[in-house]
Amino acid sequence: MPEMASTLERVASAKPSGTRFVIVEKSTAVVPDATIKVWNGPLPTLADVYRARAVIRQHLPPTPLLRPEALSERLGCEVFVKCENLQPTGAFKIRGGLYYMSQLGDAGLARGVVGASTGNHGQSLAWAARAYNSSATIFVPEGANALKVAAMRRLGAKVIHFGRDFDDCLLESQAFAELNDAVFVHSANEPNLVAGVATHTLEILEEEPDVDAVFVAIGGGSGLCGACLAGKGIKPDLQVIGVQSTGAPTVYEAWKSRTLVRLDSLDTFAEGIATREAFAMPSQMLWGTVDEIMLVSDADLKRAMLTLMETTRLVAEGAGAAGLAGAYARREMFAGKKVAVIVSGGNLTLDVLSDAINEECAW
Ligand SMILES: Cc1ncc(COP(=O)(O)O)c(C=O)c1O
Repeated sequence: MPEMASTLERVASAKPSGTRFVIVEKSTAVVPDATIKVWNGPLPTLADVYRARAVIRQHLPPTPLLRPEALSERLGCEVFVKCENLQPTGAFKIRGGLYYMSQLGDAGLARGVVGASTGNHGQSLAWAARAYNSSATIFVPEGANALKVAAMRRLGAKVIHFGRDFDDCLLESQAFAELNDAVFVHSANEPNLVAGVATHTLEILEEEPDVDAVFVAIGGGSGLCGACLAGKGIKPDLQVIGVQSTGAPTVYEAWKSRTLVRLDSLDTFAEGIATREAFAMPSQMLWGTVDEIMLVSDADLKRAMLTLMETTRLVAEGAGAAGLAGAYARREMFAGKKVAVIVSGGNLTLDVLSDAINEECAW
């Protein structure tokens, strides 16, 4: 891949002091327990979440929290659906981008932001850059979801296709930001971004304080960190459960082994939760806090998409349906209780919808 070599080489020659990118391999970074600090930067606090909410509500109304009876009937518990798919960008990530950008300051805004994304973090940065008169350059994998790419361009972002997946884009975008003196915005190792996305769970608890559990999709982990931060901060006995695909079990493996794992490859259609590397800040925030991280199959994600559509008339992309797929798998544990599922995104292509309809059925 000559393009990959070229930007990294340019950075190497511009910064001869040595490589800036440290990849933590599974074999070299065993962290034996949750108390060991793997992240030396600041962590977001509940106060940050309230500050973020004050900023975000200047731009966005709270998303609906639905209680579809047909869905509750299928799961045997009272299900609340947090409709992040109805955000202007079609995903919860917009909350993080907005709060991040609001704290960047004039100098940062003038430099512009750079990010790596399968599309929804990128849309979030593009939307926020437009709102704050900044600029955004987003690296997306070859073959990225075309709806997400078109939306980012519509919002004025420069979109660069690069590499096979999010993790390839991450390295390239960091190098690009350094070379161009732009602000690199990590999709998970970023306290203000997590404080921003945490406002989804704050909104859930404000509307339904008696919720017993919340189910959250996991890619890099910002959404789950936010749910733990706001959820446990406001209601310590709230069960917070993260959901990954069996084909992309990075954060699950990291949590189980207390190791910053890095997988060689992934196999899931749900690009929003396809991340190969476990990141330091989410790991630090999650390992001692989250109640469970669980896996569901891609077939389960498709069934969840179809069931959501049939019972609530809502569209979820694969990642966006992970919370519901997790709740369905744990339905006996929460029988008769109040369960919130965050429908984290709705940027579903018709090709993927057609596959889901042809391959699976609703529950
Ligand atoms: C729709 C959707 N759900 C879930 C996620 C995972 O979020 P996180 O990377 O914060 O874990 C993403 C990430 O982009 C997403 O787009």
